[in-house]
Amino acid sequence: MVCTGRVYAVGTGEHRGRPPRRQADARRHYPDWLDRAVFYQVYPPSFRDHNGDGIGDIPGIIQSLDYLQWLGIDALWLNPCFVSPFRDGGYDVADYYRIAPRYGTNRDLYRLCREAHRRQIRVCLDLVAGHTSTDHPWFKASCQPRRNKYSDRYIWASSGPNAEAGMPLSFVRGHAERDGSYVANFFYFQPALNYGFAKPTQSWQQPIDAPGPLETRRELVKIMLYWLGHGVDGFRVDMASSLVKMDPGHRETIELWRDIGQRVRAMFPDMALIAEWGNPEESIAAGFDIDFMFHFGVGGYPDLMLNDDCFFRRHGGGKIRAFLEPYLEQAAKTNHKGLISIPSANHDIKRPCADGRTAKDLKVIFTFLLTWPGVPFIYYGDEIGMRYVSGLASKEGGYGRTGTRTPMQWDDGPNAGFSDAAKDQLYLPLDPHRNRPDVQKQASDASSLLNHVRGLIALRRRSPALQAIGTLMPLQVNDNDRHFAYMRQSGNERFLIVLNPSAEPCLVRLNGIRPAGTSPQICHGAQARVEGDGVQIRMAGVSYGVFKV
Ligand code: NOJ
Ligand code: CA
Repeated sequence: MVCTGRVYAVGTGEHRGRPPRRQADARRHYPDWLDRAVFYQVYPPSFRDHNGDGIGDIPGIIQSLDYLQWLGIDALWLNPCFVSPFRDGGYDVADYYRIAPRYGTNRDLYRLCREAHRRQIRVCLDLVAGHTSTDHPWFKASCQPRRNKYSDRYIWASSGPNAEAGMPLSFVRGHAERDGSYVANFFYFQPALNYGFAKPTQSWQQPIDAPGPLETRRELVKIMLYWLGHGVDGFRVDMASSLVKMDPGHRETIELWRDIGQRVRAMFPDMALIAEWGNPEESIAAGFDIDFMFHFGVGGYPDLMLNDDCFFRRHGGGKIRAFLEPYLEQAAKTNHKGLISIPSANHDIKRPCADGRTAKDLKVIFTFLLTWPGVPFIYYGDEIGMRYVSGLASKEGGYGRTGTRTPMQWDDGPNAGFSDAAKDQLYLPLDPHRNRPDVQKQASDASSLLNHVRGLIALRRRSPALQAIGTLMPLQVNDNDRHFAYMRQSGNERFLIVLNPSAEPCLVRLNGIRPAGTSPQICHGAQARVEGDGVQIRMAGVSYGVFKV
């Protein structure tokens, strides 16, 4: 299907100071820079408050760029920072073209891009493509009983009998004088934008090439071009699979994204498109560069990070298989076409430092995340082991997610260096723990989690074998193994990674593999001894080793 009409960009295609572009490999559609990229996710109200009003802001992020450069990350993903009533942390947009005043101005965002690019860091925004806030002027116009330009911008079911019957959609009635109900995409105040239905069965359902859905699509492209034209490097797309309704196998949604991707890449070929889809096989086919495996979708992530009996727990007996099998299946289906990301966490799930995990456990987790293929995403504060803070009152639709969104801990001064505001003015309370970790303390401690993460990023940076497409070779996994060993290779460069997240020590015997030299690259509690044609590694409880082989 072809989308008609003119789209335009504001600003120029090549932004001054943008990190240099490399030639793309013809086999792949994703930009080369993603091969070695490590992303860092910032939840803007909680990162750093520059003007002392208690809420993190864009000038605060600019102020933190030196830290991010020191850490070694390549790109930022910012949660939504557009005008919004913030009933869902900004995932309820009221103006896609304007930065929320509490975070600064559009000019601040442009400056952030320039300053980040100076440090070879790219900036990706969050594109809430599936819905807006009920406060959006488009929706207000759409609520009017009289037909207007926005009547078909959202999905409205007629009020006739059985109009909503048996439909796998959420309908909201009684909101407006317009007769009928609107479809909500997530919370009730997030009306679904109208991209049409795959196979309309009711008169109120429009096909994807009806004028209303085509206009919505054009507007989405316009929004993307607007921000790219001002220096932004890509988007993480919220609920990317949700656009076309009642779309089995997401076939039409995949086509829609292909079309959008083509239009936008024609002007910005180096843009990164990151899906919140949870099914790499589908999202990569849709033209996304990266998709996440996480708490929903094709599975695996909860068995790795979240469940009581997941692999990365000292107790609970979790095995790597439950993660590895779905991962390998997805990797085989997407090989060379797009990348899979296993994030440390995000704003929707518990941080890894929860439920009794300590910095020691997180070192094992980060050893995995930063030596695994695909694109690592570090959620702000996980690099110092910030805790999930339980028992907080919900903030801006966060509910159980609120404890994952507390202010960044920069130092041991007032408000942990997050803000000069009075304590009761902070966006969210800080972790009250007496020994809460902070950047300053950990930066000066060579054995800290922060320096471990920084060391791993640096190793990944200089080692193509550890980057996105270095070959992955999982070594034999037996049914009862609580450890996991795998190799990564690119050309002649080979690494062996061994992880033991369990509290119990273990002995790992590997045939036909020998560490080069005696000292591992990065290691804690893993002692290797050459034995015959192989190696024997004595692993303490909660240990890891990264060896060159
Ligand atoms: C996914 C986002 O990550 C989440 O925070 C948000 O509440 C929903 N999508 C709705 O936009
Ligand atoms: Ca502020």
